[in-house]
Amino acid sequence: LENGLLRTPPMGWLAWERFRCNTNCKVDPKNCISERLFMEMADRMAQDGWRDAGYTYVNIDDCWIGGRDDKGHLVPDPERFPRGIAFLADYVHSLGLKLGIYEDMGNFTCMGYPGTTLDKVVQDAQTFAEWKVDMLKLDGCFSTPEERAEGYPKMSAALNATGRPIAFSCSWPAYEGGLPPRVNYSLLANICNLWRNYDDIQDSWRSVLSILDWYVAHQDILQEVAGPGHWNDPDMLLIGNFGLNHEQSQAQMALWTVLAAPLFMSTDLRTISAQNVDILQNPLMIKIHQDPLGIQGRRILKERSRIEVYLRPLSSKASAIVFFSRRIDMPYRYHTSLARLNFSGSTTYEAQNVFSGDVISGLQNDTNFTVTINPSGVVMWYLYPIKNLHMSQQ
Ligand code: DGJ
Repeated sequence: LENGLLRTPPMGWLAWERFRCNTNCKVDPKNCISERLFMEMADRMAQDGWRDAGYTYVNIDDCWIGGRDDKGHLVPDPERFPRGIAFLADYVHSLGLKLGIYEDMGNFTCMGYPGTTLDKVVQDAQTFAEWKVDMLKLDGCFSTPEERAEGYPKMSAALNATGRPIAFSCSWPAYEGGLPPRVNYSLLANICNLWRNYDDIQDSWRSVLSILDWYVAHQDILQEVAGPGHWNDPDMLLIGNFGLNHEQSQAQMALWTVLAAPLFMSTDLRTISAQNVDILQNPLMIKIHQDPLGIQGRRILKERSRIEVYLRPLSSKASAIVFFSRRIDMPYRYHTSLARLNFSGSTTYEAQNVFSGDVISGLQNDTNFTVTINPSGVVMWYLYPIKNLHMSQQ
């Protein structure tokens, strides 16, 4: 969507995967969906380096709605959001962050709260703009394909008509099976800034693999529809939660970065470990993720050894390469060369290991090298050409 927003994939925090529809503030006041939760996350994002690393969106998901007033305006739950959404937007803006909100194109949200129906779309877009919201995720439960086909473009136009820049995240394709001909990706790229294509992520490695498998199986379709202003969204990062070990956490981060996926954390930033902060705030990782070309990477090699290689082309003739192991035995010594990864020409490269910082110099096409990849882990390289000695000495 050419609304000037999300020229690189968005980064931020989204409530759903970790905090779901916990509305029981009496029993669990720290973790229920309430203004307190979003204010505390915003505080952490501003104070603990997240905002400065690029994580700027604080996004509400389902279960915030209280109902509609007598004029049909959406109102938040009065007990859990007593000061309203405009207050929350002001608060996060005062910290240099942005606020995202959630609605559903249909009769109800997936958790049964009031949805936005075709006759409510314009009014709801105006409400979000008045509240100074910066992003809308529009889910697709409780609607027909016909209602969605009319509703998503209508909401896109309604948001645009408010005059407020509001990034638009569409769950539409996920409700149509994610593939052409039922999904028209060129239309989507025109009306949405990002879109969910596939199933919800759950807190397990199995879930990460099932999403990755689907993206790889359909990468010929999906890769080319992504670019500045319009991104595929394989769903939230699980890092910091319960289902992934350290290797798997690094793997999700590396793979999502190479796929130019939105990086929405969904974890408790009040208690996250230093090790997970390091994965999520890795500066070279984020530089790669935010590369201005905005090209989605793809799997370029699948070995019988259950090693896979993913590559994302970057600006300045650089590339991000992820060596990913699906093995379950022990660290694997993978022998390869740039020629085997389809590189050609006489350029000399240098590679920086994104997690360890180690640099390997003097890589030419035919240079054999070995990377040691842990089970369900990755080795990630930032690979860039070096000028020849003669040039660089001038
Ligand atoms: C389905 C979406 O795909 C999830 O990300 C989340 O928004 C839930 N609905 C909320 O009910």
